[in-house]
Amino acid sequence: MCGIIGIVGKTPAAPRVIESLKRLEYRGYDSAGVAVHTPKGLDRRRAQGRIRELEAVLAAEPLEGQVGLGHTRWATHGAPNLRNAHPQKAGRVMLVHNGIIENFAELKAELIAAGRTFESDTDTEVVAHLIDQGLEQGLAPLAAFKAALNRLTGAYALGALIEGETQLVLGARRGSPLVVGYGDGEMFIGSDALAVGPFTNRVAYLDEGDYVAIGPTSAEIYNADGVRVQREVRTVAASAALVEKGNYRHFMEKEIHDQPDACRYTLSSYVDPIGGQARAPDAFDFTRIARIQLLACGTAYYAALIARYLFEDIAGLPTDVEVASEFRYRNPAVAPGTLAVAVSQSGETADTLAALRWCKAKGLTTAAIVNAPESTMSREVDHLWPTHAGPEVCVLSTKAFTAQLTALISLVVAAARQRGRIDAAEEKRLVQTLLEAPRLLSQVIADTEEALRPIAFEISRARDVLYLGRGPMYGLALEGALKLKEGSYIHAEGYAAGEMKHGPIALIDESTPVIIVAPSDAAFEKTRSNMSEVIARNGQVVLITDAEGLAHAPAEARTIVAPTCDPVIAPLIFAVPLQLLAYQVGLAKGADVDQPRNLAKSVTVE
Ligand code: F6R
Repeated sequence: MCGIIGIVGKTPAAPRVIESLKRLEYRGYDSAGVAVHTPKGLDRRRAQGRIRELEAVLAAEPLEGQVGLGHTRWATHGAPNLRNAHPQKAGRVMLVHNGIIENFAELKAELIAAGRTFESDTDTEVVAHLIDQGLEQGLAPLAAFKAALNRLTGAYALGALIEGETQLVLGARRGSPLVVGYGDGEMFIGSDALAVGPFTNRVAYLDEGDYVAIGPTSAEIYNADGVRVQREVRTVAASAALVEKGNYRHFMEKEIHDQPDACRYTLSSYVDPIGGQARAPDAFDFTRIARIQLLACGTAYYAALIARYLFEDIAGLPTDVEVASEFRYRNPAVAPGTLAVAVSQSGETADTLAALRWCKAKGLTTAAIVNAPESTMSREVDHLWPTHAGPEVCVLSTKAFTAQLTALISLVVAAARQRGRIDAAEEKRLVQTLLEAPRLLSQVIADTEEALRPIAFEISRARDVLYLGRGPMYGLALEGALKLKEGSYIHAEGYAAGEMKHGPIALIDESTPVIIVAPSDAAFEKTRSNMSEVIARNGQVVLITDAEGLAHAPAEARTIVAPTCDPVIAPLIFAVPLQLLAYQVGLAKGADVDQPRNLAKSVTVE
C-alpha cells in the first residue's frame, strides 16, 4: 500500500517521478504527490485521485529540479483528500510514507504540547515533525532522521527531503519494503524494483530497520543499530517492458491471456517432463512433515483452499488452511512437524508475513509460494517456491492465482509420490496432465471468451449474484464471486453448493443469476441436484461445465463449455471463464477493472 520513489538525478525529477508513480499506482491511488528541490527552495505539488490528476497539476505549475520525491497513496490514517496527500511537510522536512505508525497519537500529543501545529490527519506528518524537531535542536539531517525513527512503533517505508540539503534523499524501512537503485551518476530509492525500473535494474534491498542516505553517486546504508552496512547490489529482471499492456485494453485482459505462459514458466520449476516427475524447486522432502498449514489472504487464500482438497485427497497429507489475518491473532495450536506454507503474489502482504513470522518463531519450518522473487517473504522463509507469472499489475489477481494453483498441484503430486500414495506410473500420468495445462488454458480462453459476452451483459444488470461449487470448485466459487465484486462492484457471494439449502436459497428469484462451476467429476450429480433446486425457484442458472456435463445439463441452464480435462487440473482451467466473466461484466458496467475503488495491489498494512 502506497508507493514511494526518490531520485537524486541528472535530469528533471518531476517527469521521472510521474513515470515511476504510474508503475506504482497498483499500490494505491487515493492521492499522489511530488516534492522537488527547486532553485527557489523545496516545493511540492499534490492531487487527490490518480497520478493523471497530479500530472495535470504539474502541467499547470511545474517543479524545476533534479532531486525529488514522489508518493501514491492508499489511505490509512486520514481521508483520501488533498490535505492528507503526501509529501507531508513540517518545517524544513518533506516526507512520504508507506505503512502505519501505531504510536502516532501519543507522539502527536507530545508534539502539540511542544508548540507544533498540524495540517493533516495523517500519522506521517508526525514523523515529519519529529525530524524537523531534531533539525531545530541542531542535529545533522541523518542524525535527526535516525532520532525520529527511534521514536516510532509500527510499520514504515519512508522517504524524506530536507530544505537546504539539495543533493540528499533519506530513506528507511521497517515492515514495509524499500530498495535502493544504483544508476549511472544518479541514485534512487523506491518501494520495489518496478519503481526504479525505468531508471536502473541494479538494486539493493534494505533489511528490516535499515536506513539510508543517497547522494548523486553513492548510498550510505545503516542498520537499526546505526552501524554502516553494505547490502548486496543485484541486477533484477523487473524491466520496464514487462509491465506494458501491449495491445490489450486493460492489464486484466492481458494478464488473463498471459496465463498459458505463466503456467508453463511455473511448471518449469516444478516438473521434469523427461523423467515424468514432480518436485519442489528445492527438492523438499514431504516425508519429513506430518501436516501442512497453508496461510494466505484473498485470492491466494482461495488457491490454498483448493490445494487443501488435493493435498488430503491425492497425497494423504493432513492440511489446514486459514486466512492469515485470523491465524495471526488467535494463538493457534499448531502440531509439531507442521510445515507452514504462505501463498502470496506480492510476498509482502502484512498479515501473511506476520503469520509466517509467528510460525517461524514457534520453530516451524516455513515455505512460501511467492510471485515476487525479491520480496520480504522470499527472503525470510526456509523454502522459497516461486511462481513465474511475471509482474501482475491489475489489482485483481488472475495469472498469479493460476500460477499458484500450478505450483500447489505440482507439490501435491510430489508429496503423493514421496509419501507412497501414488506409484511412478501415476506420477508420470499426473505430470503429463500438468504439462497439458498451458495448452488447455489457451483453449479455454479461445472457447469461452466470446460465449461469455452476452451472459456478462445480462449479469451487469444484476444486483446480486451467487456462485456455487463443490470440492475444489468451492474455492473457485469464492474466487469467482470475489473477482466479480472487485471488477464490477456487483454484490456476489460464493457458497459450497451443498450449503445453499441452509440459507442462501432464500435469495433465489428470477433476478438472481447463479453461476455454477461444475466439471463432470464425481460431485457433478450432486451439484446437478442443486441446479434443479435453483431452477425450481426461477433462479437464472449459468452452468460452467465441460462437454460431458453439457450432455447432462438441465435444459433451463445457460451453459459455458470449458475443455474436458483431468480433475487434478480442473481448478486451473475452470478459473479462466470466471475471470473473463468478471472482466466483461466490469467492462459492461464501465468500471475501472485495473484499479477498482478502495483497493490496492500490495496490502502491506493490516
Ligand atoms: C484479489 C486480490 C487479493 C490478493 C490478496 C493477497 O483479486 O488480488 O485478494 O489476493 O490481497 O495478496 P498477495 O497474494 O499479494 O499476498
